Amino acid sequence: MSLSLSARVDEALASAFHLLALPPELAHAEPSSRPELGDFQCHAALAAARVVRRPPRAIADEIAAALRGDARFAAVEVAGPGFVNLRLADGFLAGVAATTLVDPALGVRNEGEGQLVVLDFGGPNVAKPLHVGHLRSLVLGESLRRIHGALGWRTHGDAHLGDWGLQMGMLSSAIRRTSPSLPYFTGAGPYPSEPPVTLDELERLYPEAAAASREDPARMAEARADTAALQAGDPGLLALWHTLRQLSVDAQVQDFALLDVHFDALDGESDVRDAIAPLVENLRARGVARDSDGALVIDVALPGDATEMPPLLLAKSDGAALYATTDLATLQARAQMPGLAKVIYVVDQRQALHFQQVFRAARRAGIADGVDLVHAGFGTVNGKDGKPFKTRQGGVARLRDLLDEAVERAGERVESSERVAVDERAGLAAMIGIAAVKFADLSGDRLSGYVFDAERLVAFEGKTGPYLQYAVVRMRSILEKAGAQPAEQQVGIPHATQPVERELVLACLAFGDKVSEAAHLLQPGVLAAWAYDIAQRFSKFYDRCPILREEDDAVRAHRLGICQLTLAVLQRALILLGITVPTRM
Ligand code: ARG
Repeated sequence: MSLSLSARVDEALASAFHLLALPPELAHAEPSSRPELGDFQCHAALAAARVVRRPPRAIADEIAAALRGDARFAAVEVAGPGFVNLRLADGFLAGVAATTLVDPALGVRNEGEGQLVVLDFGGPNVAKPLHVGHLRSLVLGESLRRIHGALGWRTHGDAHLGDWGLQMGMLSSAIRRTSPSLPYFTGAGPYPSEPPVTLDELERLYPEAAAASREDPARMAEARADTAALQAGDPGLLALWHTLRQLSVDAQVQDFALLDVHFDALDGESDVRDAIAPLVENLRARGVARDSDGALVIDVALPGDATEMPPLLLAKSDGAALYATTDLATLQARAQMPGLAKVIYVVDQRQALHFQQVFRAARRAGIADGVDLVHAGFGTVNGKDGKPFKTRQGGVARLRDLLDEAVERAGERVESSERVAVDERAGLAAMIGIAAVKFADLSGDRLSGYVFDAERLVAFEGKTGPYLQYAVVRMRSILEKAGAQPAEQQVGIPHATQPVERELVLACLAFGDKVSEAAHLLQPGVLAAWAYDIAQRFSKFYDRCPILREEDDAVRAHRLGICQLTLAVLQRALILLGITVPTRM
């Protein structure tokens, strides 16, 4: 593993700080936002001034003097109240670029050091088709899983299926109404392993049953009774539950595959069902939970809370499993996994209060002590009216419908492409359409919602997935053409001299830092924005600097090297975002 460019600059600063007896933890520079002033800027003199009680400008002058003799820098300038602007020597930049290119990690740090992070994402509910709300959790969660993996974490992706709640009782009671003689209800086994309904029927049945239960108290009472019986272990209801769960999960797994989303476990709420009663009893006995009007609650408010923090509802008088209780029991189970350091819940921001309650209750209960618990919330996918995305009929949009629409739009673009053989067009449209949806979902701040506009997000121009796919395809094609040239015209080291070349290479070498930043902020959008910036810088470089047409062999070799570096980091970034690149487009 090689050090990233910024780490190497900091290393150079560290030796200067050591010489000058300045606090070593301040030896740090940032990529400059004004390339005309320098490649990096160090603000440390300002902070150091407070520690060593000398004027910042004088300290900056000393730092600059110490660095001027350093061959890694071509120019060192002091500006303003004590900023040190650093211009890297071309040779140093090329050397770092060359070592980064041969580093399998491409300069990404091993921060995780093999610690385990659980990513709880997807969260589909059994019997309900995946809807647009699940899209974000799947796409963001998958990217965060890949990003942590790249940073040396051991990752465990868990879908945490909603498979143990009231919806199961709604379904079984609805099925009993139409087919009371099914063995599940008559008591005697053996029970058929085939589900009594098809997937289509199931997906229609659930909303009907839910609506009926909402409208009719008698239906709701039946649903609750069935849920309680299921949770108490009724063998017939368990057998029915099992077949319905399987039917639904099998369909969901196909959607995961379509989105190229991978789970290490498809565990669900039901997996901790046996742990719930003992957990509740333990928390009651230890006084962590208290009685409140027949229910059991855990107080989670803390002095200094800015907003009201209601107690967590642990158990109701009827004893049915509750969402928060299942989450606590699941966390307790996860805490047994060796090396667990962090759990990231990628769930709708509207559940923020729930997770605050669960995390605080876990702390009070001593569950998963020392494990970092974080909620990576996200905003809604909206229609063009700015409201949560609905189907044309006004219903909840299914994930499939949304993907189909994007793939269809992408198909219209591919239709006219002469570069692509007719029989490859459908596959290509799928790859472009899905990348377009995923990229739109990932770019931007995860907490803000975004407007789903299929037409715009499949565009080949602008900040879109297809634009980035195309950038990679183009770089590959340049390198492929170069590969067919004589030996003296092959790829050389990425040695940048022109401003557009240097700006591109500097941005490429920030890859490792961006991956870290995306993980620390739990924002794949950081990486998405960086990838778009790289593609734009590459276009500018390609416009101004001839590559294959360049006559000078050495210059061409260096430019091909820059192309190779750009391709390597951009390609890796797209993998971390979960975006697949076609061979042609
Ligand atoms: N099934 C839940 C829902 O649809 C999401 C689950 C999120 N994960 C969790 N551990 N609570 O709202």
